[in-house]
Amino acid sequence: MRTLDTLGSLDGKTVLARLDLNVPLDGTTITDDGRVRASLNTIRELRSRGARVVAMSHLGRPQGAPEERFSLRPVAARLSELLETPVAFATDTVGSDARAQLAQLPADGVLLLENLRFNPGETSADEAERRAFAAQLAEQGDVVVSDGFGVVHREQASVTDLERLLPSAAGLLVEQELDVLERLTRRPEHPFAVVLGGSKVSDKLGVIAHLIERVDTILVGGGMVFTFLAAQGHAVGASLLEEDQLETCRGYLAEAERRGVRIVLPTDIVVAEAFAADAAHEVVAAEAIESSAFGASGLGLDIGPESAAAFAAIIRESKTVFWNGPMGVFEMAAFAGGTRAVAEALTQTAGFSVVGGGDSAAAVRALGFADEQFGHISTGGGASLEFLEGNALPGLEVLGWA
Ligand code: 3PG
Repeated sequence: MRTLDTLGSLDGKTVLARLDLNVPLDGTTITDDGRVRASLNTIRELRSRGARVVAMSHLGRPQGAPEERFSLRPVAARLSELLETPVAFATDTVGSDARAQLAQLPADGVLLLENLRFNPGETSADEAERRAFAAQLAEQGDVVVSDGFGVVHREQASVTDLERLLPSAAGLLVEQELDVLERLTRRPEHPFAVVLGGSKVSDKLGVIAHLIERVDTILVGGGMVFTFLAAQGHAVGASLLEEDQLETCRGYLAEAERRGVRIVLPTDIVVAEAFAADAAHEVVAAEAIESSAFGASGLGLDIGPESAAAFAAIIRESKTVFWNGPMGVFEMAAFAGGTRAVAEALTQTAGFSVVGGGDSAAAVRALGFADEQFGHISTGGGASLEFLEGNALPGLEVLGWA
């Protein structure tokens, strides 16, 4: 894969840096700036090599037209604070403001363009439309540095087409993320445990299929656990259930048994009367969810304390742990116990711990853990899962990744 050093001298050049600054916002307040922080090294490195940096990113999923709530303006302000340097902001991507801002950008300046997805060409399924947008972006710089790890699984104008039009290379974050994920897939130390949670079992099936050959234990929590419990024949009340995945879950349980891989399901569940922070709730055996006071209308919102302790013990004894997806509805204090226990165990293990993106990264920060307590927190949710599924990632292939 081409890295920064393959680009030659950057002195006096304008570098288009495709970053993933897709941060969660509450109005205009950034609630987790992890992705902004993760982008700093590359920006600093480019400036230290004498380049002007034109930072580009998407935020959220606007449908090809400007929408104020998806504006990157708050991110420019945060970037400026963290870099301790002014960061100019263009209210468009390839329009008159971008051109005007670029014209006055100093030699070591940093400019952030508005959300790339405000332009329909960015995510278009029509290659010609994507290329046309990429060509307009290409006119604004000399080289491209692709460092938006969280988006490398997308075939989008700024992720793949632009990289074909100008000299391009991976940035430092992409390199670092790949080092970690390769360590997990190619040379993990055993015992290797994978902790999977989150709401949808269908999102995680590919990872289970690919990792079942490599890991010793798969711990399952979160909303996806109810499809596994139902696959074992247990009633799950009103909990999340993906009926169409029951057969697949049965298949994985059987395959795991054949291979000697442990799939560990919770033995107890926190069942609530309703999906609300103040809902009445009680802990019941995972096999008897409908035995709670709420009968068949009770819904499981977290793994129970016995399961949390059992999961934590396995995590602490592992030499490699990868975690993706919360164990329960961690945003509500009553249902955060499982996620907190897993996060804490990851900070206590002597092994190499990796938190895989999106919800899980937000969860550990929301629960008060510091990034440094983990071996690595990936900035890519979907991207890291797709990597672990063994899928080809278009944004890496275009950089010469094989
Ligand atoms: C993410 O949040 O996983 C990345 O920023 C990619 O966003 P997307 O799923 O909207 O393409």
